[in-house]
Amino acid sequence: MRYKHIQNLDKTKDIIIPCKKGNLKHVAEFTTFKNFDFEGEFSTYQLVYGATGNRIYLLGLGQEKDAIKTEEAFRKLAFDTKKNWVKSIQVYAELLSDDAIKQAAIGLELSNYEIGQFKSEQKEQADFEVSFISKKDIENLLNEGKYTGETTNEIKALVDAPANYKTPEYLGEWANKSAKKHHYKCTVLHQDELKKQGFDAVIAVGKGSVNPPVVIVTEYIAKPNTKIDIGLVGKGITFDSGGLSIKPSTNLHYMKSDMGGAAVVLGVVELVAKLKLNVNLVGIVASAENAVDKNSYRPGDVINSYSGKTIEIIDTDAEGRLVLADGLSYLIKEFQPEKIIDLATLTGSVVRTLGFTAAGLFTNNIDMAKTMSDLGFKTNERVWQLPLFEDYESDLHSDIADLRNFSGKPIAGAINAAKFLEAFTESHESWMHLDIAGVSFGDSPYSKMKSASGFGVQLITNYIKSLN
Ligand code: BES
Ligand code: ZN
Ligand code: ZN
Repeated sequence: MRYKHIQNLDKTKDIIIPCKKGNLKHVAEFTTFKNFDFEGEFSTYQLVYGATGNRIYLLGLGQEKDAIKTEEAFRKLAFDTKKNWVKSIQVYAELLSDDAIKQAAIGLELSNYEIGQFKSEQKEQADFEVSFISKKDIENLLNEGKYTGETTNEIKALVDAPANYKTPEYLGEWANKSAKKHHYKCTVLHQDELKKQGFDAVIAVGKGSVNPPVVIVTEYIAKPNTKIDIGLVGKGITFDSGGLSIKPSTNLHYMKSDMGGAAVVLGVVELVAKLKLNVNLVGIVASAENAVDKNSYRPGDVINSYSGKTIEIIDTDAEGRLVLADGLSYLIKEFQPEKIIDLATLTGSVVRTLGFTAAGLFTNNIDMAKTMSDLGFKTNERVWQLPLFEDYESDLHSDIADLRNFSGKPIAGAINAAKFLEAFTESHESWMHLDIAGVSFGDSPYSKMKSASGFGVQLITNYIKSLN
């Protein structure tokens, strides 16, 4: 969609009029019609026709508490009614806050997401011009909204893509293309290079697959020759069969989404580059396919890692923490970032703990936790902190190696995974781990089966903005 800022509305053209619940006074300016079956309830809408037969969509934004979901209301309206729009539409934005204007643009852009990428017949996407009417200076908000929506759509497409297309190499190519287009640096370390540099944990996880693992290193440097402000690490398991500790087949097809953390990292780096934020950002993706084969790594194996720490494999399905361990070690050694955030669809345990409502947050840094938690409420990408108490440390003990990749106990699984990661952070004081297994992929009103949510792209981008 193309977004324009205009000062004066055209009363003969189609228009969306946002309405807070019970506050419909401004609607009188657009139509003499009064008996609406509509009160401005969140994400409801009413279509009335204007004097020239133009469409007037009254869009309910609900109450104050619904403000964080403005994006969703616009997305739903556009998704449902776009087929009837003619080339252009106006949005009456005079009564919208800056945040709401941005959310509106994001929502409209998100309505363009087409999940049927692999259907033999592709729907034509009409290119609409959306004119926001406002006396304020809103160009930047519209741009930001458009970029955010576009990147989120790309990230969803990646997560929803099937694993026979979306190999580790494919993620590398995706990053290379994005880097060229948006002017940041990208290096893809392939199998030989990974072996040479000692990414033994990534190699071990990828050993059972014909699709070799990669580590993707992206660098967006706005301030050359100064420290890296923040480093991100994403879990990029393109398919998680569980390996020899094989998963049950029910819902196994959804394990194509086990690169949700990697997708967020790639999306955030791209979006930060598009927005030209004044920050030095490094994004690392550790990607492999966890497959079953005669070459697969086994339960009981002892493997090495980039850090030099040896790991006893208790369960090959606890593979995410292994690739992340190498990603974290590499990030810290090569870039010494001020802050580190890793994102991963890491455990079923976090889904049992927090459901599909919030991501699990782990950190020893109280300030980071507070900022991230506040930002989460603002964009409805909520996080909830879980502990990293020392008491959980003994569950990492291995008799034969430096540590083991799973406690073997059916308790505190998300914490056990986070404690494992912590062991590879060199006691970094500003490290945060987000377990997004429950929020990255799930039910949605826009598809019949589970699909990608885009969770994290706005949250992490806003976090990076907050650093300035
Ligand atoms: N990718 C899974 C976690 C997951 C579960 C993501 C459900 C999304 C939805 C992860 O690699 C995994 O298999 N974790 C195991 C770890 C266990 C074997 C220690 C789990 O959580 O069961
Ligand atoms: Zn697994
Ligand atoms: Zn996994």
